[in-house]
Amino acid sequence: MEKINIAIDGPASSGKSTVAKILAKDYGFIYTDTGAMYRSVTYLAIKHGVAFSDAKSLVNLIHQYPITFKQTEEGQLVFIDGEDVSQAIRQPDVTNNVSEVSAHELVRKELVKQQQIIAENGGVVMDGRDIGTAVLPNAQVKIFLVASVLERAQRRYKENQTKGIQTDFETLKAEIEKRDYIDSHREVSPLKQAKDAVLIDTTGKSIEDVVATIKTVVKDKGYL
Ligand code: CDP
Ligand code: CDP
Repeated sequence: MEKINIAIDGPASSGKSTVAKILAKDYGFIYTDTGAMYRSVTYLAIKHGVAFSDAKSLVNLIHQYPITFKQTEEGQLVFIDGEDVSQAIRQPDVTNNVSEVSAHELVRKELVKQQQIIAENGGVVMDGRDIGTAVLPNAQVKIFLVASVLERAQRRYKENQTKGIQTDFETLKAEIEKRDYIDSHREVSPLKQAKDAVLIDTTGKSIEDVVATIKTVVKDKGYL
């Protein structure tokens, strides 16, 4: 299998990680969830009492506590210094503060460096906000997923219900809108469609439909 890199960007709950995981499995590639890295730094800041505004101390946390991924049958697990934080980094205290942490240039520089090393030999499906624009500007395939905010909030709401997490729908929707706003308006590598990315509106589309559309894009570009 040709070892190309596939970059998938888009706002919260546009379906990035779900389709990226399926594509990686089908192609035999490595899946990298860059959002989990920014969430891990936020988790570390809360755990060690570091202010979300203190970029230098946040970078020190990254140096002190390495973030690693482990691919398992059940999916990807995230570890910090040997501790499985896969669940902890999805909690509301992390979600509500991650956009402030990820807006720092110093924090991004550190994590982007790590993401580029992961993808240096190809064969990676990477999802995030700036993969096509900043992390892997030479990725062979770039996808930008969008969906209406209403549908994205409904997807998260349903996901939380399945996991037994109680959430208020309007609060959840407002949280997604706030995070989208901060992510799209920050100075460093804002959430933006790369010029050469293919836009897919996933509103009303099933996961299978989106995966099939991306596979067609890959084929049409002459890969795999
Ligand atoms: O899964 P969800 O859409 O909720 O978010 P995520 O992909 O886990 O990303 C969490 C947050 O990390 C985003 O809201 C961004 O603030 C930040 N992020 C980023 O700045 N750059 C990336 N490449 C990935 C995530
Ligand atoms: O990674 P990102 O935040 O972009 O979204 P996700 O975590 O992949 O998807 C959020 C939720 O929407 C998951 O529960 C998916 O199963 C669901 N989803 C969907 O219902 N339809 C799609 N076309 C894509 C995702």
